[in-house]
Amino acid sequence: MLSNTLFVCASQVPKDLAPSEFRERPQETAVLLATPEFFRVEGAINPHMVDRGGQLNVVDQPRARGQWREIVAVLEDLGLKVHVIPGREGLPDMVFTANQSFPFVDAEGAKKVLLSRMRTKERQGELQYFADWYAKHGFAAIDFDMARDEALEGMGDLLWLPDRYLIFAGVGPRTDRSVVERLPDVLGCPIFALELTNPRFYHLDTAFVPLDQNRALVHPPAFSRESLSLLDSVFDELLVAPREECESGFACNALVLPGQHVLIDDSCVKTGELLGNLGYEIHFVSTSEFRKSGGSVFCMTMMLP
Ligand code: ARG
Repeated sequence: MLSNTLFVCASQVPKDLAPSEFRERPQETAVLLATPEFFRVEGAINPHMVDRGGQLNVVDQPRARGQWREIVAVLEDLGLKVHVIPGREGLPDMVFTANQSFPFVDAEGAKKVLLSRMRTKERQGELQYFADWYAKHGFAAIDFDMARDEALEGMGDLLWLPDRYLIFAGVGPRTDRSVVERLPDVLGCPIFALELTNPRFYHLDTAFVPLDQNRALVHPPAFSRESLSLLDSVFDELLVAPREECESGFACNALVLPGQHVLIDDSCVKTGELLGNLGYEIHFVSTSEFRKSGGSVFCMTMMLP
């Protein structure tokens, strides 16, 4: 049903749509991270990377390593198999493993990966290391042609509905609409395209967290009006995350894990309370050093099938 459809506005969505009717998707059991020893802020490729005076943020390296290790420890405690790619000198953003790829298991149970084309030249060099890693781990790379100036930034902009074959795609700053239009056929599932209109929320994963088949956490000012009503037509309930926690704490970069667990930056106390009241177990982690580069916990992880 509705397979391979691209949805861009609410009027396309059938009135009786129930996301639970979409094909079931196996739960992720593993996660991929990259070590942070070469993580720095070397150039501003998003507005979070400079301070109020326009100077590049300065990363406290020992603290960044400690925060990264703490995230790994929580993921392991929760029973996930943690895979790690070594970071590389000269690739200061490689630690954000949500962006270089989109791995999944297809309807026949085969492991596949769609590799990204990064928007900025600063990040292009990361891709080969991820391509190699996936090849070694039995993921077949999808043959997908992109024009030279087209971009696609993996799970930064392509988010699954939990447990279902249905994808939400952010279009604008980092991923092109022309690319997303071709993806329903390539990935074999319906896609809801959401227009990102605010440069501070440059990836979909900075402004939207699908929680389950009925509910999502959102930061509405990140989206066009049309995209917000599209989201409204899919979910029974859109929970608005506290504005200040979205703007400075990356509340909508929380990582939701099977079993009702949420990892979220420790400055997002109100958002934690909101989700805690819904029955989620909240694991606060500190990501202050990574926020200086415009990312938090979701950006630093790649859930694997
Ligand atoms: N400095 C990185 C960039 O601008 C941060 C990436 C954060 N990742 C994310 N999925 N939001 O590309």
